[in-house]
Parts: sequence; C-alpha cells; structure tokens
Amino acid sequence: MQTVQDVSALRAAIRGWRSKGETVGFVPTMGNLHAGHQSLIKLARARTERVVASVFVNPTQFGPNEDFERYPRTLVQDQAALADQDCDLLFAPDVGTIYPFGAEHSVSLRVPQITETLEGAHRPGHFDGVATVVCKLFNLVQPDIAVFGQKDFQQLKVIERMVRDLSLPVKVMAAPTLRAEDGLALSSRNQYLSPDERARAVLIYDTLSKMRELFLQGHAWRALEQVATSRLTRAGFAPDYAVIRRADDLAEPAEDQREGLVALIAARLGTTRLIDNLMFD
Ligand code: PAF
Repeated sequence: MQTVQDVSALRAAIRGWRSKGETVGFVPTMGNLHAGHQSLIKLARARTERVVASVFVNPTQFGPNEDFERYPRTLVQDQAALADQDCDLLFAPDVGTIYPFGAEHSVSLRVPQITETLEGAHRPGHFDGVATVVCKLFNLVQPDIAVFGQKDFQQLKVIERMVRDLSLPVKVMAAPTLRAEDGLALSSRNQYLSPDERARAVLIYDTLSKMRELFLQGHAWRALEQVATSRLTRAGFAPDYAVIRRADDLAEPAEDQREGLVALIAARLGTTRLIDNLMFD
C-alpha cells in the first residue's frame, strides 16, 4: 500500500488507475482505525477495483471545547491496518494541504435544514466542517463510490444530501454499525471511557433496542422518547437527546407514523460523548 501526503502524488496514482479503466472506492476517516473502519474498507473493496482511504483529523468539524487536540492520532497503526485490508492507497494530508488558506479562511459549505437538529444543534458548525472536508476530499480523490458508517447516521444523511444537491458524481454507500459483543457501537471515542464507564456504556444500545421493542408493540413514539431519556438519566448519563425521527430527513414524524423511523441517542458519560442509532425497520 502506498501512503501519500500531497495532492500531486494522490492524483498521479488515481490517474494511473483510471487510465486502465479501474474504478475507485473511497473511505474517508479521521484515523485511529478499528474494526468498524475495516468493514467500510471491505465494502469498498468488494465494489471497486481500487480503494483509497484518507486519514485526516479535520479541525473545522470540532467545536472550541471539543477533543480536537486529544483526538487519538495513530498513523503507523492505521497504515498497518489498511495494508492488512488490501487498501491500495492511504491519503494522509496535513492541514495546509486541505486548507491552503488556513482552516478559518476556508470556503465553507452549509447543508441547510437537516444539519439544524440533533448533532447540528448540539455541535454548532460541526456539519459545515464535515460537509466542507468531505467535498474537498471528493474533489481530490474523485471516487466512484464512497463508504460511510451508519453509526454517524446524521452525517450520512448530510453527505447524501450534499452529493445530491451539488450533483457530485459519487455514489454514497452506507455500512452497518459494527458493535462490541455487548452491543456498544465501535467508536474511536470508546477508548476515553474508564473501565466502569465502558461497562455501563452498553445502556445506550440497550435503550435503543428497548425503544424499538416497545414501538413494535404499538407504543407511541413520543412517549418512548421520555422513557429513554429518564432511563439514561437515572443510570448517570447526561443525554443530549434520545429521540425518534424520520430516517430520510430526521424531521419529527407525524403522531401516527409507524414506518421509516430511526431512534437516535447522544449522551455524555463522564467526559465522553457517545452517539448511536437504530432503525426501526
Ligand atoms: O466520520 C468521520 O470520521 C469524519 O466525520 C469524516 C467523514 C472522515 C470527515 O472528517
């Protein structure tokens, strides 16, 4: 596997493949790769002849009090994991390559509406940073397909919308969330949890599963949001939200809507903020 940091080397490699008519799959990441990321690479590998992954901890998607500085940077291990997955090329640019005028003076993309709720409401500017960097990476790699995890459900929807709205020639594919044996969704942030918090963190998935179970038994979605919020609060979590939304646009469902719904939770446990979601059908 080749690792490149600059745009000309990236473009040269991709030009070489394209000249032979090969298709390109892309998996953008912020590194600190785990089995969840590996499943994204695997999905790209199954669909395209060449696979590019990027590792870039994107400063514009972190708020001022978020974990940009302490976000784990593990490039050597990431390289080994990607090579193991038969990834063809790792693009690991520095901040100046992605933001030549500086991150604060960059062109910024805003995807309206869908970014104004949930994560967008709790992390102002977060999705502007995500949309901006993903669009820049798409322009650089120009992949046929790009794979994103369903764990970041709202991110996936924001990117799908951006691609459609800007007519970007890339097919966005969603990969199912990978979970630890007890159900906790794999995430780079899980490593911030103390052993005691790690043991309790499973309550998020457990609560999502309970919401689905009760919903399928006929309970009204609105009542389930309250049940979930009190369950998490009683167990020592500080929930930002525990909601049921329309899966396509994350808007509130009609009172009697029974299909196309997803439950989403974001909650803090100690200093760690965890998110997860579960489709109801
Ligand atoms: O999901 C992530 O790791 C990031 O938000 C992404 C898509 C790589 C953009 O920085």
